[in-house]
Amino acid sequence: MRDIISISQFTLEEILEILEAAQKVMPYAENQIHPKDLEFSNLAKVTLFFAEPSTRTLGSYKEAAEIYGFRTQEISGQEATSLMKKESFADTIRTLASQGANILVIRSKYEGAAQFAVEILYQGGWAVSVHNAGDGAHQHPTQALLNLLALKSRLGRISGFTLGLIGDLKYSRTIHSDLEVLRLLTRQYGNIKIRAVSTPETKLDSYLKEGLEIEEGDFLELLSDCDVVMVTRIQEERFLDPQELQRVRGRFVINREVLENILRPNVIIMHPLPRNYEIAPEISSDPRIFAWEQMKFGVPLRMILLRESYCHRKDKPIIFEEKMATPQIIIEEPAEERLKRNKEKGKHERYFRPIRDNGMIIDHLPLGMGDTIKRLIKQHGGLKKKNGCIHTLEGVKRLSSDALKDVIVLEGHFIPEKLYAPIAFLAPKVTFNLIQDGQFKKIKVKVTGSSISGIFKCPNSFCISNNDPEAISRFYLYDEGFAICGFCHRRFNHKELLSN
Ligand code: NCD
Repeated sequence: MRDIISISQFTLEEILEILEAAQKVMPYAENQIHPKDLEFSNLAKVTLFFAEPSTRTLGSYKEAAEIYGFRTQEISGQEATSLMKKESFADTIRTLASQGANILVIRSKYEGAAQFAVEILYQGGWAVSVHNAGDGAHQHPTQALLNLLALKSRLGRISGFTLGLIGDLKYSRTIHSDLEVLRLLTRQYGNIKIRAVSTPETKLDSYLKEGLEIEEGDFLELLSDCDVVMVTRIQEERFLDPQELQRVRGRFVINREVLENILRPNVIIMHPLPRNYEIAPEISSDPRIFAWEQMKFGVPLRMILLRESYCHRKDKPIIFEEKMATPQIIIEEPAEERLKRNKEKGKHERYFRPIRDNGMIIDHLPLGMGDTIKRLIKQHGGLKKKNGCIHTLEGVKRLSSDALKDVIVLEGHFIPEKLYAPIAFLAPKVTFNLIQDGQFKKIKVKVTGSSISGIFKCPNSFCISNNDPEAISRFYLYDEGFAICGFCHRRFNHKELLSN
C-alpha cells in the first residue's frame, strides 16, 4: 500500500488488516508515546498540505506522524500558499516534494487532486507517497476507515446492522467513502440495511447506491430502526446556488425530541465533524452521541497508514493508462468482391464510390451525430481542415427499415484506433468499414474496458482536470452509455459529455 487515494483501491481483507494493526497501536496513540521499535529515521518527513480547512484530519495526521518520529511540515490554508498567486496545483506538489516530503497528505477542493499528485510526482521521479485527506465532494478514505474502526469497537461487529445516513449525501465525501466500505461489507456478509435521509437536493447520486440495500426518504422516521446513524453537515461551501442552500439548510436536526421519540433507545450517533446545527447542542453530552469518541480513532488509524506508505513509497504507483478498445473484425474479404456485390444489389454504392481504393466509411451513426463525429476526427484524428473528404449524409433511408442515420465517408484517410472507442461510445451501432490494400474490413467495437484521455472535457467544474492545465481529462467508457471520469469518478452520459 503506497498511496491512499480511495476506498476502491482496497479489498475488505486489506481493510480488516489495517483495522487490526490500528487497534494494536491504539495505546501508543492514547498515551502519546513512541513505539520504540517502530520509529523511523528522524529524517523521514510527512508533509501536510491542507488547502481546505481542517481540525481533526490535520491534527490527527500530525499527531500520528510525530508519535512515529516523522518530521512534519505543515502548509494549511489556500491563502497561505502561492496558489493565491495563480501557481498551479501541480507546481505546488513539485515544490513540496523538492523540499523533502516522503509522504504528502493532501486536502484540496479539487476532485481527483490526490490521484493527479501521484502521477505528477511519479513523472518527476520523486518517491513520495500520497494520502488523500479529502478531495472536494469526492472521497475521504481515511475518514471512512476510521469510521469503520470506531463502529467496530463500539458495536462489536461489522455486519448485521441497520445504518442510517442523514444530511448532505450528495456532497459529503465522507459519506461517499463510507458507502464504498459498506459495499465491501455487504458483498462479504450481506446483512446490512441502509436508510438514507436527505432532501431531494442533497440525495445520493444513483450510481453510489449500486450493490447496497438502501431505503431513501426525506423524513426522520426512516431512521427509527437504525442501530447506527451517521450524521453529516450540509457542505455549504460546495453549493453553487444560494437558493438551493437556503432550501436545505436546517432541514434535519437530531435533538432531544428525535432522540426520545424516533430513534432506537441505544442508537449510536456518529458524525465525522465539524457539526453545525444537525446535532442540537442540548444533546451534546448524551451518551448516544459517539462522535467525540469516534474521532479518537483517527490517530492510530493514520499511524498505520503512514507506516505502510512510508515503507512502500518506492513502489510503482497505480497510474491511469489509456486503453484502446479492441476492434472486432466482423467481415474481411477482397475489396473487389465487396464492391461488385454492392453494385449488383444497388447497395451502398454512393458511399463506396469515393473510396474505391483507399478509405473508410463510418456507418450507422445516429441521425444528426455526423457533425459531432466529424469535429472529433478533425480535432483528434489528423484530418486536415480543408481536405474535404468527409461527406455527412443525413437522413439516408435504409433499405431494410425507415430508420435514419448519418454516414461519414473518408477518402484516403483512416482514423487512428484510439478514436474507435469514443466514436462507438457516442454511436453504439457504428461500424467502421475500411478499404485498404485491396481488402475490405468491417469492424465493430466493444467499448467497455477502454479508457481515453484528452477527448471529452469533464462536466464537473470541481474536477482537477478543469483546474490544472496539466491534468488532462480522462474517462473510462462503457457500452451501457455512460462514462466515468478518471479523476472525479462521476458518471456522465453522452449528452452530458457533449454539452461541454
Ligand atoms: C469532514 C471533511 O472534511 O470531509 N471532516 C473530517 O475530515 N473529519 C466532514 C465535513 O467537513 O463535513
